[in-house]
Amino acid sequence: MDSDEQRYVVIGERAEDSDTIEELAYEVLVGLSSEPKRLPSRFFYDDVGSRLFARIMRLEEYYLTDCEHSILERSGPEILSCMEGRAFNLVDLGAGDGAKTMLLLRHLAEIGADVTYVPIDISEGAMKGLVATIRKELPSIRVEGVVAEYHRGLQWLVRQRSDRANLVLFLGSNVGNFDRAQARGFLGRIWASLRSEDRVLVGFDLKKDIEKLLAAYNDREGVTSAFNLNLLERINRELGANFVTDRFRHFGTYDVTSGAMKSYLVSLDPQDVRVDALDRSFHFDAWEPVHTEYSYKYLRSDLDSLAHDSGFVVEQRFEDERGWFADDLWRPRKGGDDG
Ligand SMILES: C[S@@+](CC[C@H](N)C(=O)[O-])C[C@H]1O[C@@H](n2cnc3c(N)ncnc32)[C@H](O)[C@@H]1O
Repeated sequence: MDSDEQRYVVIGERAEDSDTIEELAYEVLVGLSSEPKRLPSRFFYDDVGSRLFARIMRLEEYYLTDCEHSILERSGPEILSCMEGRAFNLVDLGAGDGAKTMLLLRHLAEIGADVTYVPIDISEGAMKGLVATIRKELPSIRVEGVVAEYHRGLQWLVRQRSDRANLVLFLGSNVGNFDRAQARGFLGRIWASLRSEDRVLVGFDLKKDIEKLLAAYNDREGVTSAFNLNLLERINRELGANFVTDRFRHFGTYDVTSGAMKSYLVSLDPQDVRVDALDRSFHFDAWEPVHTEYSYKYLRSDLDSLAHDSGFVVEQRFEDERGWFADDLWRPRKGGDDG
């Protein structure tokens, strides 16, 4: 165990554990047997995928990062004032490389806050990188990372019944990967884990010019395409499949009715792909799509309903200058509150 590893724990699955391979195998079996075919987006983030996503976040077209960066840069101290004078955990669900959270951590280090940073991420590669960065750049910040799926991370949070308050971050519009019902369920589970003195800060990508959306998910350099295709390469690596990625193309499109950006991998030819771990092949027709990801976009009124329906009160909404992105600070509404 190297010293970075001592600053995070692994709960449940690791990429190399048979559990995760079984889970991936199960999802590939179910997803590629479905009509239309689908693969779940949470398998994007192996080490290669996490590195590709870090590149996506630096792309000019991927406005989400800049928007949220500017919100946290400008309003970070105001956001953090909800925890003023208290010892608290800054819990970062799906922390990734933590680049934007660093803005908050830097401020907390400067004011000498009594904070423990608790990044939770399914990707151990991302966690290693994040822990190393914080140790180097902000050695005074206490880090207790958790490599886990969100829900397991949340269970960990429940077990942490300490006297510390929790400020739970769910940034980057990660919530947009869930459909409306799943988002309500997910946020409801966060609500169930929290006490009324805790807070959540949730990043939402707001509805905007459709051209901006299309450009963000179909970048000119093709990094998003590589990120999407890496899912097939991951299945090749981990399940012994023989996908030829050149025979598929990435396609990102916007559904105005549901407000979802949808990503697909489209088969360019009729083809059969064998998956050794399942001892079977799957047939793809020419131009047959495999759905891989949703990224839902929201109206402000959607955020109000989502907060209400999942048990929260909107305390403050922070938006970037263009009004493209919102970070919403919510308080769990619990018995005894009058809000
Ligand atoms: C879109 S990135 C966002 C990173 C960061 N929060 C930001 O705003 O820049 C998503 C991160 O969530 C993690 N992730 C995705 N699905 C997850 C899941 N089901 N449980 C835990 N982490 C997950 C990925 O590993 C990845 O690092």
